[in-house]
Amino acid sequence: MYEVKIVGTGSYAPSNIISNEDMSKVVDTNDEWIKSRTGIRERRISKEENTSQLSIEAAKRALDSANLKPEDVDLIVLATLTPDCFIPSTACLVQKEIKAVNATCFDISAACTGFIYALNIASQFIKTGQHKTALVIGAEVLSKVVDWKDRNTCVLFGDGAGAAILQRSNEKGIISEYTGSDGSKGEHLECDAIPLRSFLVEEEEVTSNFVSMNGREIFKFATHVMVECINKVLQDAECSLDDIKYIIPHQANMRIIEYVCKKLKIDKEKFFINLDRYGNTSGASIAIALDEAAQQGLFNKGDKIILVGFGGGLTYGAQLIQW
Ligand code: COA
Repeated sequence: MYEVKIVGTGSYAPSNIISNEDMSKVVDTNDEWIKSRTGIRERRISKEENTSQLSIEAAKRALDSANLKPEDVDLIVLATLTPDCFIPSTACLVQKEIKAVNATCFDISAACTGFIYALNIASQFIKTGQHKTALVIGAEVLSKVVDWKDRNTCVLFGDGAGAAILQRSNEKGIISEYTGSDGSKGEHLECDAIPLRSFLVEEEEVTSNFVSMNGREIFKFATHVMVECINKVLQDAECSLDDIKYIIPHQANMRIIEYVCKKLKIDKEKFFINLDRYGNTSGASIAIALDEAAQQGLFNKGDKIILVGFGGGLTYGAQLIQW
């Protein structure tokens, strides 16, 4: 088995900034409610760019930071719940635009845990030797599937993309990984696709195509699995929380993070947080946060970092990484 390391990161978000004040003109809400319940101040909402375009920009930035050329990439794994289209995959659209002609490309679906799952998949391909250099992307234009009349959900989400380059290495990089799913709780966070509609179907089902969520159930689930995931990757890597420089969580809600801090008896400063500026960008959130933390120079070579996420499915997972 080979070692696998993150050698570059990039991110990109649409330029349109929508504040909580702006949201109060769309639905019956206010800055105070949103800030106190979630920690979110503003989010980016795309006016012109679809998921592939956000992904392409993040991918180019990640390649630049890794000092690699598109043709060096032999695998593209892209996590999204908001693809441009069913076919081609968003990963193939990225390949075409950046000219990563040597890559095998596919999308994966794991909602907000998408980037963790995608990293996990890419790292297995590299560890076994089938691929050498992977471009892993988490990207969403959630504004396409948010119900702009539902104040319970529309204030929470935002658009954006993040990317990381994984490469075969002689040094330790991704040290331990853990993923899990609980399909029995899937009903708590849903978004319909196309219902049955062939000539055999007498009455077509009416679907909403919008995200619907049981916030309280997700809150309970999130706090539970985040603690479990962090403990699991620590245990597998034979590390303790004292060895960890930063935890990069899925950026859903400040209160979830505060609850996890309390449970693990750690300071909030250990968590890198940017949800105040982006809201919940689902599959993109950990990727954007990882890139921002890296760009801010927060990681030194050898630092240990945990990435941890949860989301629709329901799904969850984490990685313990040595920078
Ligand atoms: N603005 C103002 N009021 C709002 C509102 C908004 N945007 N959204 C909901 N409310 C109201 C509700 O209607 C409710 O009013 P009522 O008491 O008169 O019925 C009240 O606020 C409280 O709602 P409640 O659902 O109890 O709030 P909460 O404290 O549980 O917070 C969430 C709601 C969604 C912020 C919280 O449950 C949460 O963060 N859940 C996890 C969600 C998540 O992370 N999802 C992403 C998964 S990847």
